[in-house]
Amino acid sequence: MNLSELNKVATAMVAPGRGILAADESTGTIKKRFDTLGVESTPDTRRDYREMLFRSTDAMSKYISGVILYDETIRQNAKDGTPLVKLIEKAGTLPGIKVDKGTKPLPFHPGEVVTEGLDGLRERLVEYRGLGARFAKWRAVIDVGQAHGLPSYACVAANAHALARYAALCQDENIVPIVEPEVLMDGDHDIDRCVEVTRWVLKETFQALFFARVALEGMVLKPNMAVPGKKSGKRASVAEVADKTLRVLKECVPAAVPGIAFLSGGQSDEEATAHLDAINKMGDLPWRVTFSYGRALQAAPQKAWSGKPENTAAAQRAFGHRAMMNGLATMGQWKADLERKAA
Ligand code: 13P
Repeated sequence: MNLSELNKVATAMVAPGRGILAADESTGTIKKRFDTLGVESTPDTRRDYREMLFRSTDAMSKYISGVILYDETIRQNAKDGTPLVKLIEKAGTLPGIKVDKGTKPLPFHPGEVVTEGLDGLRERLVEYRGLGARFAKWRAVIDVGQAHGLPSYACVAANAHALARYAALCQDENIVPIVEPEVLMDGDHDIDRCVEVTRWVLKETFQALFFARVALEGMVLKPNMAVPGKKSGKRASVAEVADKTLRVLKECVPAAVPGIAFLSGGQSDEEATAHLDAINKMGDLPWRVTFSYGRALQAAPQKAWSGKPENTAAAQRAFGHRAMMNGLATMGQWKADLERKAA
């Protein structure tokens, strides 16, 4: 492990004004997104869509520090034959790769899942590094079911252990691990239950990272924010989300971690930006705090694109706008009227 190289990459991933584009939707997930647009999902349409994003040169070079790719995408070439990885590098952005193999039901724990993909991971990391990946992502999923007493200890511990094994393997192959323990916002729980479960999951994750001897200086944490479950019917103010999120992170995330890059998790585009901005307005933080958004960066460009080549410029503008808004939010410099002006 070359910790100074890992630390350099991790620090670049969370540089002020910039954040990560999560474009690593599995084939199944991107198909769902394309279905809502009425676009057929084929290797070519997936390539065309992602090429459109990566060729948004201005947005990429100013606001995007890294792009998380899917296995298919890291191997694809642009229409003109240039590898997509090269387009990303040319924009001054770091290519990364999702390496988990998705979730499987956890036996004897109805409703709970564990993320798989450790078998053969070292060999895959070596290959991905050869294809240009400088960082990786592994997502653990924790469901909060207020009524059913979820999550279970087995689920939290199994996922923390897998995250730590993955992170150690990445560092051993000089790839920065994004450690993503996602507490879902789909349930009927309130914000305080989200805080409680997030605290437990982060404590358990950092303990597993410690036992696995992961160097905190060479990783990036990708957590959820503290928000009420979507089915709770409750809303929290931007100030409450920022305050509760920051409090739980300060309790659980050592200052040795260079940066925290949030997932958007089903928040609206503007909510995800407003929350990130409010957190960064809360003053001197122990780590850099930025975004690693999938839906909150891509919903607008996907809609604008709708599979039509003639919409490319409009889609790139929509992507550029969200990237800029989130870039400002990483410095606590976003304002709601910047959204209105663009509308
Ligand atoms: P969302 O921002 O859409 O939650 O996606 C981020 C991600 O990469 C989840 O693993």
